[in-house]
Amino acid sequence: MNPPAPAAPRPVTVPDFRAAKARGEKLAVVTAYDYTSARLADDAGVDAVLVGDSLGMVVQGHPTSLPVTLRDIAYHTRCVVRGVRRALVVADLPFLTYQVSPRQAVRSAGKLMKEAGAHAVKLEGGERMAETIRAVVAAGIPVMGHVGLTPQSVHLFGGFKVQRDEAQLLADAAAVAAAGAFAVVVESVPADVATKLTRAVGVPTIGIGAGAGCDGQVLVFHDMMGLFTDFRPKFVKRYADLGGQVRAAVETYCREVRDGTFPGAEHSFR
Ligand code: KIV
Repeated sequence: MNPPAPAAPRPVTVPDFRAAKARGEKLAVVTAYDYTSARLADDAGVDAVLVGDSLGMVVQGHPTSLPVTLRDIAYHTRCVVRGVRRALVVADLPFLTYQVSPRQAVRSAGKLMKEAGAHAVKLEGGERMAETIRAVVAAGIPVMGHVGLTPQSVHLFGGFKVQRDEAQLLADAAAVAAAGAFAVVVESVPADVATKLTRAVGVPTIGIGAGAGCDGQVLVFHDMMGLFTDFRPKFVKRYADLGGQVRAAVETYCREVRDGTFPGAEHSFR
Protein backbone atom coordinates (compact mmCIF):
# COMPACT_ATOMS: atom_id res chain seq x y z
CA MET A 1 0.00 0.00 0.00
CA ASN A 2 1.25 3.51 -0.79
CA PRO A 3 1.86 5.78 2.22
CA PRO A 4 -0.92 8.38 2.61
CA ALA A 5 -0.34 11.58 0.65
CA PRO A 6 0.80 14.47 2.88
CA ALA A 7 -2.12 16.71 3.87
CA ALA A 8 -2.48 19.84 1.73
CA PRO A 9 -1.22 22.89 3.65
CA ARG A 10 -3.81 25.42 4.80
CA PRO A 11 -3.81 28.27 2.28
CA VAL A 12 -2.79 31.73 3.42
CA THR A 13 -5.76 34.11 3.33
CA VAL A 14 -6.25 37.86 3.31
CA PRO A 15 -7.37 37.88 6.99
CA ASP A 16 -4.13 36.01 7.83
CA PHE A 17 -2.22 39.11 6.70
CA ARG A 18 -3.97 41.35 9.24
CA ALA A 19 -3.63 38.68 11.92
CA ALA A 20 0.12 38.44 11.26
CA LYS A 21 0.47 42.18 11.87
CA ALA A 22 -1.56 41.94 15.07
CA ARG A 23 0.74 39.15 16.29
CA GLY A 24 3.89 40.97 15.20
CA GLU A 25 4.80 38.19 12.75
CA LYS A 26 6.75 39.24 9.66
CA LEU A 27 5.41 38.38 6.22
CA ALA A 28 7.69 37.05 3.47
CA VAL A 29 6.63 37.82 -0.09
CA VAL A 30 8.46 37.12 -3.34
CA THR A 31 7.59 37.68 -6.98
CA ALA A 32 7.18 34.79 -9.40
CA TYR A 33 6.07 34.65 -13.00
CA ASP A 34 6.05 30.94 -13.85
CA TYR A 35 5.01 27.54 -12.51
CA THR A 36 8.48 26.32 -11.51
CA SER A 37 9.62 29.34 -9.51
CA ALA A 38 6.17 29.73 -7.91
CA ARG A 39 6.26 26.12 -6.82
CA LEU A 40 9.76 26.45 -5.37
CA ALA A 41 8.84 29.65 -3.50
CA ASP A 42 5.61 28.13 -2.21
CA ASP A 43 7.35 24.97 -1.03
CA ALA A 44 9.92 27.17 0.71
CA GLY A 45 7.13 28.77 2.73
CA VAL A 46 6.51 32.29 1.41
CA ASP A 47 3.27 33.90 2.58
CA ALA A 48 2.41 35.44 -0.78
CA VAL A 49 3.60 35.26 -4.35
CA LEU A 50 3.32 38.48 -6.31
CA VAL A 51 2.93 38.25 -10.07
CA GLY A 52 4.52 41.67 -10.41
CA ASP A 53 4.65 43.83 -13.49
CA SER A 54 8.40 43.80 -12.83
CA LEU A 55 8.13 40.90 -15.28
CA GLY A 56 8.29 43.63 -17.92
CA MET A 57 11.95 44.05 -17.01
CA VAL A 58 13.15 40.67 -15.76
CA VAL A 59 11.15 38.43 -18.13
CA GLN A 60 10.40 40.60 -21.16
CA GLY A 61 13.56 42.76 -21.17
CA HIS A 62 11.91 46.19 -21.24
CA PRO A 63 13.56 49.12 -19.40
CA THR A 64 10.37 49.75 -17.38
CA SER A 65 7.13 47.97 -16.48
CA LEU A 66 5.03 50.30 -18.64
CA PRO A 67 4.60 48.01 -21.69
CA VAL A 68 3.18 45.12 -19.63
CA THR A 69 -0.43 44.29 -20.54
CA LEU A 70 -3.31 42.77 -18.60
CA ARG A 71 -3.03 39.78 -20.90
CA ASP A 72 0.64 39.32 -19.90
CA ILE A 73 -0.21 39.41 -16.20
CA ALA A 74 -3.17 37.06 -16.70
CA TYR A 75 -0.97 34.56 -18.55
CA HIS A 76 1.76 34.60 -15.90
CA THR A 77 -0.80 34.48 -13.08
CA ARG A 78 -2.30 31.31 -14.54
CA CYS A 79 1.18 29.73 -14.62
CA VAL A 80 1.89 30.78 -11.02
CA VAL A 81 -1.47 29.64 -9.67
CA ARG A 82 -0.75 26.12 -10.95
CA GLY A 83 2.47 26.05 -8.90
CA VAL A 84 1.09 27.34 -5.61
CA ARG A 85 -0.64 25.29 -2.90
CA ARG A 86 -0.35 27.53 0.16
CA ALA A 87 0.69 31.11 -0.59
CA LEU A 88 -1.67 33.95 -1.44
CA VAL A 89 -1.34 34.82 -5.15
CA VAL A 90 -1.43 38.57 -5.78
CA ALA A 91 -1.55 39.78 -9.38
CA ASP A 92 -0.34 43.26 -10.35
CA LEU A 93 -2.63 45.55 -12.31
CA PRO A 94 -0.47 46.91 -15.16
CA PHE A 95 -0.11 50.53 -16.24
CA LEU A 96 -3.33 52.04 -17.63
CA THR A 97 -5.53 49.07 -16.77
CA TYR A 98 -6.96 50.82 -13.69
CA GLN A 99 -5.98 54.50 -13.70
CA VAL A 100 -8.69 55.59 -16.16
CA SER A 101 -11.64 55.05 -13.80
CA PRO A 102 -12.75 52.91 -10.85
CA ARG A 103 -14.98 51.06 -13.31
CA GLN A 104 -12.00 50.16 -15.47
CA ALA A 105 -10.15 48.99 -12.35
CA VAL A 106 -13.00 46.68 -11.30
CA ARG A 107 -13.12 45.17 -14.81
CA SER A 108 -9.36 44.59 -14.98
CA ALA A 109 -9.13 43.23 -11.44
CA GLY A 110 -12.13 41.00 -12.10
CA LYS A 111 -10.39 39.46 -15.10
CA LEU A 112 -7.31 38.60 -13.06
CA MET A 113 -9.47 36.97 -10.40
CA LYS A 114 -11.99 35.25 -12.65
CA GLU A 115 -9.92 34.23 -15.66
CA ALA A 116 -6.45 33.88 -14.16
CA GLY A 117 -7.22 32.63 -10.64
CA ALA A 118 -5.54 35.40 -8.62
CA HIS A 119 -6.54 35.68 -4.97
CA ALA A 120 -5.96 39.45 -4.80
CA VAL A 121 -4.68 42.30 -6.96
CA LYS A 122 -2.11 45.03 -6.37
CA LEU A 123 -2.31 48.56 -7.70
CA GLU A 124 -0.03 51.57 -7.38
CA GLY A 125 -0.87 54.95 -5.88
CA GLY A 126 -1.89 56.54 -2.59
CA GLU A 127 -4.48 59.22 -1.93
CA ARG A 128 -5.32 59.64 -5.61
CA MET A 129 -6.24 55.93 -5.92
CA ALA A 130 -8.41 55.71 -2.79
CA GLU A 131 -11.70 55.86 -4.67
CA THR A 132 -10.49 53.16 -7.06
CA ILE A 133 -9.39 50.87 -4.23
CA ARG A 134 -12.78 51.36 -2.59
CA ALA A 135 -14.56 50.33 -5.80
CA VAL A 136 -12.44 47.20 -6.32
CA VAL A 137 -12.83 46.11 -2.69
CA ALA A 138 -16.60 46.76 -2.93
CA ALA A 139 -16.64 44.25 -5.79
CA GLY A 140 -15.26 41.65 -3.39
CA ILE A 141 -11.69 41.77 -4.65
CA PRO A 142 -8.89 42.12 -2.08
CA VAL A 143 -6.47 44.92 -2.92
CA MET A 144 -2.83 45.32 -1.96
CA GLY A 145 -1.79 48.97 -2.22
CA HIS A 146 1.62 50.27 -3.29
CA VAL A 147 3.05 53.63 -2.19
CA GLY A 148 6.43 55.35 -2.23
CA LEU A 149 8.28 54.71 -5.46
CA THR A 150 5.51 53.49 -7.73
CA PRO A 151 7.41 52.30 -10.83
CA GLN A 152 4.51 52.90 -13.24
CA SER A 153 5.05 56.64 -12.52
CA VAL A 154 8.79 56.45 -13.18
CA HIS A 155 8.69 59.26 -15.74
CA LEU A 156 6.77 61.51 -13.37
CA PHE A 157 9.47 60.92 -10.72
CA GLY A 158 12.29 61.40 -13.24
CA GLY A 159 13.77 57.95 -12.50
CA PHE A 160 13.66 55.17 -9.94
CA LYS A 161 14.29 57.50 -6.99
CA VAL A 162 13.92 57.17 -3.21
CA GLN A 163 10.73 58.94 -2.11
CA ARG A 164 11.25 61.23 0.90
CA ASP A 165 8.13 63.37 1.31
CA GLU A 166 7.15 62.05 4.74
CA ALA A 167 3.81 63.85 4.99
CA GLN A 168 2.72 62.66 1.56
CA LEU A 169 3.86 59.08 2.24
CA LEU A 170 1.92 58.98 5.50
CA ALA A 171 -1.16 60.43 3.83
CA ASP A 172 -0.87 57.92 0.98
CA ALA A 173 -0.51 54.87 3.20
CA ALA A 174 -3.35 56.03 5.46
CA ALA A 175 -5.63 56.66 2.46
CA VAL A 176 -4.89 53.24 0.97
CA ALA A 177 -5.60 51.50 4.29
CA ALA A 178 -8.78 53.54 4.91
CA ALA A 179 -9.99 52.64 1.40
CA GLY A 180 -9.93 48.97 2.35
CA ALA A 181 -6.57 47.62 1.13
CA PHE A 182 -5.52 44.56 3.14
CA ALA A 183 -1.80 45.39 2.89
CA VAL A 184 0.42 48.01 1.33
CA VAL A 185 3.75 47.71 -0.45
CA VAL A 186 6.13 50.50 0.58
CA GLU A 187 8.89 50.93 -1.99
CA SER A 188 12.12 52.94 -1.81
CA VAL A 189 11.38 55.00 1.27
CA PRO A 190 13.84 55.94 4.06
CA ALA A 191 13.74 53.29 6.79
CA ASP A 192 12.67 55.68 9.58
CA VAL A 193 9.75 56.98 7.51
CA ALA A 194 8.64 53.43 6.64
CA THR A 195 8.73 52.53 10.33
CA LYS A 196 6.51 55.52 11.21
CA LEU A 197 4.17 54.59 8.41
CA THR A 198 4.02 50.98 9.63
CA ARG A 199 3.05 52.16 13.11
CA ALA A 200 0.45 54.54 11.69
CA VAL A 201 -1.56 52.12 9.57
CA GLY A 202 -3.61 49.13 10.70
CA VAL A 203 -2.71 46.92 7.73
CA PRO A 204 0.63 45.22 7.11
CA THR A 205 3.30 47.18 5.26
CA ILE A 206 5.38 45.09 2.87
CA GLY A 207 8.69 46.83 2.31
CA ILE A 208 11.06 46.82 -0.62
CA GLY A 209 13.89 49.24 -0.07
CA ALA A 210 12.07 50.49 3.03
CA GLY A 211 14.17 49.07 5.89
CA ALA A 212 13.49 46.53 8.60
CA GLY A 213 10.61 48.32 10.32
CA CYS A 214 7.97 47.12 7.87
CA ASP A 215 5.61 44.24 8.69
CA GLY A 216 7.00 42.17 5.83
CA GLN A 217 9.35 42.26 2.87
CA VAL A 218 9.08 41.59 -0.84
CA LEU A 219 11.87 40.97 -3.34
CA VAL A 220 11.89 40.32 -7.06
CA PHE A 221 12.77 36.65 -7.59
CA HIS A 222 15.28 37.29 -10.38
CA ASP A 223 17.06 39.95 -8.30
CA MET A 224 17.39 37.88 -5.14
CA MET A 225 18.55 34.82 -7.08
CA GLY A 226 21.18 36.73 -9.06
CA LEU A 227 19.44 35.94 -12.34
CA PHE A 228 18.89 39.56 -13.40
CA THR A 229 22.08 41.55 -13.54
CA ASP A 230 21.29 44.53 -15.82
CA PHE A 231 21.12 46.70 -12.70
CA ARG A 232 20.99 46.04 -8.99
CA PRO A 233 19.16 48.40 -6.64
CA LYS A 234 20.88 48.98 -3.25
CA PHE A 235 18.02 47.21 -1.44
CA VAL A 236 18.49 43.89 -3.22
CA LYS A 237 20.17 41.13 -1.25
CA ARG A 238 21.42 38.31 -3.41
CA TYR A 239 20.51 35.02 -1.74
CA ALA A 240 22.00 32.96 -4.59
CA ASP A 241 24.09 33.40 -7.71
CA LEU A 242 21.91 31.37 -10.05
CA GLY A 243 22.97 33.59 -12.96
CA GLY A 244 26.61 32.60 -12.44
CA GLN A 245 25.70 28.95 -11.98
CA VAL A 246 23.48 28.87 -15.07
CA ARG A 247 26.19 30.49 -17.20
CA ALA A 248 28.84 28.03 -15.96
CA ALA A 249 26.49 25.08 -16.54
CA VAL A 250 25.67 26.16 -20.09
CA GLU A 251 29.38 26.74 -20.82
CA THR A 252 30.13 23.20 -19.62
CA TYR A 253 27.27 21.84 -21.72
CA CYS A 254 28.55 23.63 -24.85
CA ARG A 255 32.07 22.26 -24.25
CA GLU A 256 30.82 18.70 -23.70
CA VAL A 257 28.60 18.78 -26.80
CA ARG A 258 31.51 20.06 -28.87
CA ASP A 259 34.09 17.58 -27.53
CA GLY A 260 31.63 14.64 -27.64
CA THR A 261 31.54 14.03 -23.86
CA PHE A 262 27.77 14.57 -23.83
CA PRO A 263 25.65 12.56 -24.21
CA GLY A 264 27.37 9.69 -22.42
CA ALA A 265 26.22 6.06 -22.39
CA GLU A 266 24.09 6.74 -19.30
CA HIS A 267 22.07 9.33 -21.22
CA SER A 268 21.58 7.12 -24.29
CA PHE A 269 19.12 4.28 -25.08
CA ARG A 270 20.38 0.81 -26.00
O1 KIV B 1 6.18 44.54 -9.89
C1 KIV B 1 6.68 44.14 -8.83
O2 KIV B 1 7.37 43.13 -8.78
C2 KIV B 1 6.43 44.92 -7.63
C3 KIV B 1 7.25 44.61 -6.42
C4 KIV B 1 8.64 45.04 -6.62
C5 KIV B 1 6.67 45.17 -5.20
O3 KIV B 1 5.61 45.78 -7.63
